[in-house]
Amino acid sequence: MASVKLTDVKKIYQGNVVAVHDFNLDIKDKEFIVFVGPSGCGKSTTLRMIAGLEEISEGTIEIDGVVVNDLQPKDRYISMVFQNYALYPHLTVFENMAFPLRLLRPRMPNAEIYKRVTQAAEVLGITQYLTRKPKALSGGQRQRVAIGRAMVKDCKVFLMDEPLSNLDAKLRNQMRAEIILLRKKIDTTFIYVTHDQTEAMTLGDRIVIMKDGFIMQVGSPTEVFDHPNNLFVAEFIGAPKMNIVKSQLLKEGDKYYVNPFGSKIEVGGAKGKQLLAKNVETQDILLGFRPEHVRLEQNPSASNFKVTLEVNEMMGSELHLHVVAEDGSKLIVRIPTIQLNDKEREEMVYGKELYLSFEGKVMHFFNPETEISLLSNQESPQKSDLKQDVPEE
Ligand SMILES: Nc1ncnc2c1ncn2[C@@H]1O[C@H](COP(=O)(O)OP(=O)(O)O)[C@@H](O)[C@H]1O
Ligand SMILES: [Mg+2]
Repeated sequence: MASVKLTDVKKIYQGNVVAVHDFNLDIKDKEFIVFVGPSGCGKSTTLRMIAGLEEISEGTIEIDGVVVNDLQPKDRYISMVFQNYALYPHLTVFENMAFPLRLLRPRMPNAEIYKRVTQAAEVLGITQYLTRKPKALSGGQRQRVAIGRAMVKDCKVFLMDEPLSNLDAKLRNQMRAEIILLRKKIDTTFIYVTHDQTEAMTLGDRIVIMKDGFIMQVGSPTEVFDHPNNLFVAEFIGAPKMNIVKSQLLKEGDKYYVNPFGSKIEVGGAKGKQLLAKNVETQDILLGFRPEHVRLEQNPSASNFKVTLEVNEMMGSELHLHVVAEDGSKLIVRIPTIQLNDKEREEMVYGKELYLSFEGKVMHFFNPETEISLLSNQESPQKSDLKQDVPEE
């Protein structure tokens, strides 16, 4: 059990590659924190600096109030699970799990090792495999052994670097649920790295969204979904991703309007009040709205704008409609399948004209230059700070 605090932590690799910029984060005891972002954004580097596997170029890392910058990994009381499992092929599952305990000096008694390994195996449901070698296990079982090996030690912080990335989609979903249960059982501080926003949203108490070595936003899953601070977070969190279109934000008296595709839509509810409280003036914006916040209208006059259907992805419980607006903007619209009758479903084919309207209460407004939300209260790296064209996974 421990808190972890990173203050102005920076990592500069040889050749002046800045992998992590001024990383500041306070992780509370027993919190489940997820670092998420595209490949190369500095997640593993940050995790490895906490583990002591990578030197810290600047700043301090504290575990339970003690600066650990110069402590060896073994003296930091952390446990780490890697993406590639890193099991020893010649050892049985039991000995793989016992391995970190056998290294302890003074020696841990065999009876204690036996107790810890069998308990962890019980929790993970791998008791029947303890005498097997790793090659006789499936991917999911191997991953459980790797987690078990990390569990047997007394540790203050549990670190996991993409532990589910090598599993197929179905197993990944199952293991995700198991990690949620595991977390309840071992009740310690977790720092979990992933490039997958669904994993981040479902596992994290708080999510740290990273890009190019910068923290783009920190918040609970609900906060980052409902109130993205910048365009990057808006598009990264949520699937299918948020639609972004050019618009103006118009202030008329006490009311605000947006006008994408020649429409004019009032900004409703709390969003309008927040714009007014910040006294936001009329300006060009990038307007964001999620695929689920658009409605299909039967009656053209009740709609805000017209689009043409290009692709209908039938997902089972919902349809993802890829549509083109009259100005050429491409959008994704998400419609619960249950809202359409059989005939309407059959008609959802290439070229069909659809009439759509917005949910005005859940729009997002971004400055086109800085890409920061007009309603953001947090500091956020600006577009000009970031590298462009970073390849994504
Ligand atoms: N040993 C290293 N030497 C030089 N650059 C590195 C090294 N390890 C990682 N990097 C660079 O640091 C950046 C962050 O890498 P990493 O932390 O592995 O990202 P992530 O885990 O988010 O995919 C990348 O640009 C990567 O190329
Ligand atoms: Mg990584």
